[in-house]
Amino acid sequence: KNNYKVAVCGASGGIGQPLSLLLKINPLVTELSLYDIVHTPGVAADLSHIETIAKVKGYNGPENLVTALRNADVIIIPAGVPRKPGMTRDDLFNTNAGIVRDLAKAAAEAAPKALIGIITNPVNSAVPIACEVLKKAGKLDPKRVFGISTLDIVRANTFVAEAKGLNPKDVNVPVIGGHSGVTIIPLISRATPSVSFPADQLKALTTRIQEAGTEVVKAKAGAGSATLSMAYAGARFANSLLRALNGEANVIEPAYVISDVTEAPYFSTPLVLGKNGIEKNLGLGTLNDFEQELLKAAIPELKKNIEAGVKFANQ
Ligand code: APR
Repeated sequence: KNNYKVAVCGASGGIGQPLSLLLKINPLVTELSLYDIVHTPGVAADLSHIETIAKVKGYNGPENLVTALRNADVIIIPAGVPRKPGMTRDDLFNTNAGIVRDLAKAAAEAAPKALIGIITNPVNSAVPIACEVLKKAGKLDPKRVFGISTLDIVRANTFVAEAKGLNPKDVNVPVIGGHSGVTIIPLISRATPSVSFPADQLKALTTRIQEAGTEVVKAKAGAGSATLSMAYAGARFANSLLRALNGEANVIEPAYVISDVTEAPYFSTPLVLGKNGIEKNLGLGTLNDFEQELLKAAIPELKKNIEAGVKFANQ
């Protein structure tokens, strides 16, 4: 159909604004619906002057949320508070969990067929929260809810390319698991083109990919977490969803989804995307010994994160 409504929830934020800009210049987007609790009229007016086809509308405040989401094909959620130094994970969790719960409720009402991509951290718990809320509303389609883990792949591609003197555009490193710390499992043995590293360098590179978010938090020194690279990754993922909606065959992107490929009930693996969301989960594939160890370390942490999300949604 070549024309899609995309809604961004949290559109005025550090991620939301550059993400909305990238969506405004995506030719598949004909309606760009910007929702936030502050500043949306300004962000929408500003973006609306750009000479592309997408009609931009700004919706401010909870009373306009359902209208903002109404019949959206794709909903991307970067709403929330970012991590700051000294902030506990629980502080971040409680605020952001409530935001995701409320947005998922509205999505269930206004756009039950939408493909939903969640950026709000902690993603490992936020996706279970959204799924539980949708389930309670009788609107859960497990094929349509995604945690956007694309930034881990983007970072892995960049770091591996740097280490080997390659063009990052030519490098593809599969990353599976969750979207924080040890739950992130880079599969460098399956990178294309094929690369190899001595054991100590492989370990250091793996840890750098797992902790790359903290690198940015430290460098920003109190001003927040990754925004521009996350916006890029979010836009890349949204574009994959849109290409799939638009009938392109064989769109493959990994994302953190309801999954039965491991003992953790949510897990990120490469997915074949189609008009109805996940067409096929490509699964874990073959892991070498080093990667098996990473998986072993990831599962208990991931399960804890998932349980925390499920518990929050049902309390
Ligand atoms: N509904 C919609 N938007 C909201 C809500 C809400 N209930 N609460 C807050 N927001 C908006 C804020 O008004 C702000 O515009 O979300 C935006 C968040 O922007 P920033 O504070 O700049 O945070 P950002 O760096 O973009 O990170 C947002 O993404 O990666 C994650 O950890 C990060 O969870 C955080 C989120």
